[in-house]
Amino acid sequence: QAATTYEAENATVSQGVVESNHAGYSGTGFVNYDNTTGSYVEFAVDAATAGPATLTLRYANGTTVNRPMTIAVNGTATTRDFPGTGAWTTWQEATLTTTLNAGTNTVRATATTANGGPNLDRLVLGTPSSAGTPV
Ligand code: GCU
Repeated sequence: QAATTYEAENATVSQGVVESNHAGYSGTGFVNYDNTTGSYVEFAVDAATAGPATLTLRYANGTTVNRPMTIAVNGTATTRDFPGTGAWTTWQEATLTTTLNAGTNTVRATATTANGGPNLDRLVLGTPSSAGTPV
């Protein structure tokens, strides 16, 4: 199955803003999470069939402090680390495997610390064409 890209700037954002001041993002920008616990970006991810799936979040964290987030798939959350990437213009990918339902799934990435989340560029369903390269 071809990878499908969901840009963060097109997702549902709670306590965050779409910005484009740090180069290297795909689409038209990225989401800058407010620096607060509970800020989130929620994607509506369509799956043709139920079953295992790979989700890849592309992010930048220009600080040296981890910005963990819960990744809730249809309400079931796991926690992931989003450590510093070296610069706000240095984007890296975090991949997780999950199980999706056929049809629309919600994938919500929520900051768990007062620093908020990292800057979030996109979510890719399926295998990206190459790590770190916009698809
Ligand atoms: C800086 C940076 C933002 C980032 C923010 C943060 O202001 O320019 O893109 O989101 O730090 O610490 O979250």
